[in-house]
Amino acid sequence: MFKRIIMQKRKLGYSDLHITSIGLGTWAMGGGDWKFGWGPQDDNASTAAIHAAVDQGINWIDTAPIYGHGHSEKVVGKAIKGIRDSLIIATKCGRVWKGDSREIGKSLRAASIRQEVENSLKRLDIDYIDLYQIHWPQPDEEIEEGWSTIADLIKEGKVRHGGVSNFNLEQLKRAQAIHPIASLQPPYNMFRREIETEIMDYCSENEIGLIAYSPMQAGLLTGKFTQDRAVALPASDWRSKHPFFNAPQLAINLEVVERLITVAEKKNCSLSQLSLAWVLRRYEMTAAIVGARKAEQIRETAQAASFALNTSEIDAIEAILRWREEQV
Ligand SMILES: NC(=O)c1ccc[n+]([C@@H]2O[C@H](COP(=O)([O-])OP(=O)(O)OC[C@H]3O[C@@H](n4cnc5c(N)ncnc54)[C@H](OP(=O)(O)O)[C@@H]3O)[C@@H](O)[C@H]2O)c1
Repeated sequence: MFKRIIMQKRKLGYSDLHITSIGLGTWAMGGGDWKFGWGPQDDNASTAAIHAAVDQGINWIDTAPIYGHGHSEKVVGKAIKGIRDSLIIATKCGRVWKGDSREIGKSLRAASIRQEVENSLKRLDIDYIDLYQIHWPQPDEEIEEGWSTIADLIKEGKVRHGGVSNFNLEQLKRAQAIHPIASLQPPYNMFRREIETEIMDYCSENEIGLIAYSPMQAGLLTGKFTQDRAVALPASDWRSKHPFFNAPQLAINLEVVERLITVAEKKNCSLSQLSLAWVLRRYEMTAAIVGARKAEQIRETAQAASFALNTSEIDAIEAILRWREEQV
């Protein structure tokens, strides 16, 4: 149903990685059996989504050890057998657990990261990681030790480039003083625009690539989310507890979605595609990390790599988002 489009690649910050403007996010592929799970997820559907992403020309995959306590990395590792060399693999460190425990700890200590990198290489069944990211800047006082360790791992060849995620401006500056940051992975979508105030400029000035996470606000900005679906979310889906997916915010968000759908319809695209084109409208944004749980989802969203929004579409979206700001 969806055509294979020409995916343009963009240089990630100062690095020599050239990534497609849409990357595949695999958080939901970790399944439901942990604190931030997405409810039941079929591994075969995950594998099909990874293969569909590659078929669409997407050349990079973002995962993390904590997504299903190793499960997402294992699924990715199996799915990329035989095609690893054509892909850029990004994973993370800093969220840790012991054995079968579902308790999540935080560590950026050198010894912990060194153990984590070995575990990730094993689960992914690869020899090196293209982009290794600090998942959260926590504990704050361990940022310097963690980032220096990643700089060492780069020298040792286990990792090609280092990135960070969820860092604020001050934390970015502290890391940048030690070793150049290849990328920042922040939340960015129509409902989460915090990075527009300072961080976008800083990243652009310092050749730090920006890869937006949750570009469709975890499915809310796809147009496929309804009041009934929100109510029916299983307890093992983290969204069932998030304010965006619950009263009173849910009703406002769904009203905004309805309004945004009218803009998408005029452009003859889906709201998912409009949401991604909106994220990618900024020149500072290298790419969007797009989550998918099944093949048809990523086939649809991958098409957004070929869309551009014009000024009147951007203005129409802006007016709708201003209305939302007045409500929440
Ligand atoms: N660094 C961090 O702290 C951090 C945090 C969050 C995310 N991330 C990364 O960013 C990636 C993307 O973020 P995200 O997964 O939170 O959210 P997202 O990309 O905004 O949304 C993904 C979800 O939307 C739904 N969806 C996707 N395509 C769809 C389509 N065509 N039609 C209808 N629904 C569709 C799916 O969930 P349903 O089908 O269940 O609705 C899917 O799991 C993650 O996978 C992860 O790699 C990183």
